[in-house]
Amino acid sequence: MLLEVKDLNTFYGASHVLQGVSLNIGEGELVALLGRNGMGKSTTLKTIMGLVKQKSGQVIFEGRDISGFPPFKAAQAGIGYVPEERRIFPELTVLDNLLLGIKGGKIKNPDDPHVWTVERIFKHFPKLQERTSQQGRFLSGGEQQMLSIGRSLMGNPRLLLVDEPSEGLAPIMVQEVRNVLEEINKAGVAILLVEHNLKVALSLAQRVYLMGKAHIGYTGTVDEVRINDEVRAQYLEV
Ligand SMILES: Nc1ncnc2c1ncn2[C@@H]1O[C@H](COP(=O)(O)OP(=O)(O)OP(=O)(O)O)[C@@H](O)[C@H]1O
Ligand SMILES: [Mg+2]
Repeated sequence: MLLEVKDLNTFYGASHVLQGVSLNIGEGELVALLGRNGMGKSTTLKTIMGLVKQKSGQVIFEGRDISGFPPFKAAQAGIGYVPEERRIFPELTVLDNLLLGIKGGKIKNPDDPHVWTVERIFKHFPKLQERTSQQGRFLSGGEQQMLSIGRSLMGNPRLLLVDEPSEGLAPIMVQEVRNVLEEINKAGVAILLVEHNLKVALSLAQRVYLMGKAHIGYTGTVDEVRINDEVRAQYLEV
């Protein structure tokens, strides 16, 4: 297993927002974490990344217990995080935004074809290449999302946590972001995807976790979720 999340309990003050959340992700897998608003999907990603501290439960990554690691250590261990708010630097150019994603300021083994470099990112994101020297603030929402994903790839993660990548994007950009995630996954990066667009999520994922309030209520393959009207009605459709 690449990632094992065991029995997470997370609180915001007195509110118990993760109540025993457990999930697994295999090497190179793309797994969707879905559910209605406020169930705890983002908090699950933030707890894995160390942005929010759990009260109990473990995060095991590549066999190593990284529970309670601060975010930069989780990143060093090999986890990338693309937050809902796409935190790009608006005053910096596209290129500088990407370069900031390099861990320790220097790419180790840039000649290794599996290592992400600016050139390799541009191959997957030709739109960004056209705008190399433009400031981030001039990019469209979709392009900023691409840049945010590209920057996290520069850290060479084995696992990418992606929170609502298609939110607020025009339909054509939704497709482009979807396709980029598929390519990245095919290139060997495992992805835990939180996504409200069910069509996008099911077209990408191999397996699905459905969240009810503060817990995982159901887990199955994409095909199992597709044919199970009852489970979809319970956890997804309004
Ligand atoms: N910083 C915070 N302080 C207090 N409560 C919070 C905080 N962030 C989230 N919550 C609450 O914790 C619960 C889980 O929130 P979370 O953002 O993880 O849900 P989500 O499944 O990602 O929802 P959405 O689909 O709306 O993004 C919600 O009830 C939310 O209101
Ligand atoms: Mg959320």
